[in-house]
Amino acid sequence: MTKKKNPETLRSARWFAPDDLRAFGHRSRAMQMGYAPEEWKDRPVIAILNTWSDAQPCHMHFKTRVDDVKRGILMAGGFPMELPALSLSESFLKPTTMLYRNLLAMDAEELLRGHPVDGVVLMGGCDKTTPALLLGATSMNLPAIYLPAGPMLRGNWKGKTLGSGSDAWKYWDERRAGKISDKDWVDVEAGIARSYGTCMTMGTASTMTAIAESIGMTLPGASSIPAADAGHIRMSSESGRRIVEMVWEDLTPQKIQTREAFENAIVVAMAMGCSTNAIIHLIAQARRAGQDIGLDDFETASRKVPVIANVRPSGDTYLMEDFFYAGGLPGLMSRIRDHLHLDCVTVTGKTLGENLKGAEVYNHDVIRTVADPIYAEGALAVLKGNLAPDGCVIKPSACEPRFLKHTGPALVFDDYPSMKKAIDDPDLDVTSDHVLILRNAGPQGGPGMPEWGMLPIPTKLVKQGIRDMVRLSDARMSGTSYGACILHVSPESYIGGPLALVRNGDRITLDVAARTINLDVAEAELAKRRAEWKQPETRFERGYGWMFTRHIRQANEGCDFDFLETAFGAPVDEPSIY
Ligand code: FES
Repeated sequence: MTKKKNPETLRSARWFAPDDLRAFGHRSRAMQMGYAPEEWKDRPVIAILNTWSDAQPCHMHFKTRVDDVKRGILMAGGFPMELPALSLSESFLKPTTMLYRNLLAMDAEELLRGHPVDGVVLMGGCDKTTPALLLGATSMNLPAIYLPAGPMLRGNWKGKTLGSGSDAWKYWDERRAGKISDKDWVDVEAGIARSYGTCMTMGTASTMTAIAESIGMTLPGASSIPAADAGHIRMSSESGRRIVEMVWEDLTPQKIQTREAFENAIVVAMAMGCSTNAIIHLIAQARRAGQDIGLDDFETASRKVPVIANVRPSGDTYLMEDFFYAGGLPGLMSRIRDHLHLDCVTVTGKTLGENLKGAEVYNHDVIRTVADPIYAEGALAVLKGNLAPDGCVIKPSACEPRFLKHTGPALVFDDYPSMKKAIDDPDLDVTSDHVLILRNAGPQGGPGMPEWGMLPIPTKLVKQGIRDMVRLSDARMSGTSYGACILHVSPESYIGGPLALVRNGDRITLDVAARTINLDVAEAELAKRRAEWKQPETRFERGYGWMFTRHIRQANEGCDFDFLETAFGAPVDEPSIY
């Protein structure tokens, strides 16, 4: 360890060291909590941002896991300070956690700014918690290490493996088609989430924690360890030990989160068969770090990096538990070394290349080689055209290949309730060639860009055996979803993007190989419709939603608040202490 800090230059010394009235207050209140001066004096104070709550099943173990982090911090000579942060339960929080990602990012940044802390362990994992905590820590730029919650165990029903999300959608369709009983449905409900931990498919949680690791913000291998594995406890304690050293080394996110580190993350995301949500979060995080990453960077990586993680929903069999046993993320990265910048520094203080020494793959069907991938191109494709001038996204590896080139008539819904009602109508005028459209579901329109993008197949078609069709929206979709779903259409319809101009029966042409999506309607007609278009009513007259709709960026810009972006203004000063 190369020590760059000493006790006098610790940030927390501003609170504890001076011989003045305020510092007297800080010291006496620490003693009120039962801590003797020996326990904090001259030691790095380590914040633990814990996103545990009673409404957060994916982080249930954080209630006690935090003690393992504290053990590591104490062992390394630090002083732990647990600070509860917004929990953002993907399951329970409505209307969508994406509405609150930036609120947690602000929570994290301001918790760190306002408290006497020198470094931080970020405890998250459930979808938005990872980007949110990293966004806040990036802006605050104190030494930070990310502790992923870890995936839950495989689901089980009648001896069959169940995958989070993916099998919920699958068996819901089977039930609508009358192929499973009510009792079966309840048993699936009980068997699909068997332990604490995050969704164990390659959903947004597994994608984003893998991204955190590939940027260099977690210990090597941390993102793949199942939550219920004893290795997860050891990793938690080690994260506590390591953050204390990072404070002395002054190893900040800025030194880790270079452009090359984000390029590594994009490459890994492609090889993992990532969730489409990765695009939004990575763009936001890179921009906070001062790196101009955009949709084109994903498109470039997508053309050259194949999907080699055979994990559902891009793969057809395995789950994150299998991925861990097969060698986890270090195993996967060892197979795409040629695409990675191996000299990037990570939280270990070593380079990515050094961390990967000895990484192996133990199951070649779960983690494939570049020469024998599960999908030859990357997981995502960015499409542009007159329907999405600023881009939209499809996950070709998770849809029926026949839809990669398609022309069909539009069937448009302006909101989710009207679509939900129509979808069960046995007389709905729809065929499997139609392009189902949901609008007003973007960042402002949703609001918060809910995960509605995997629009349900009309029940009439489900009964005919149809399980995929082209669906188009300015919404997001869960990383556990699948199908020919085109998402994140930008600019969104709620602010007058071209999606707002589509009418029932208009022809829409999609060509994934050419990366295009177009509305086959003459420009003169579109101009007429544009002139007639009226923005839907404002949803919020006050409160957080009011602020959200005024400041949220579009999907292709990462959905950050404009005022939180690094380039918005001068850096925020350290708090005054008087
Ligand atoms: Fe928490 Fe999926 S619901 S990770």
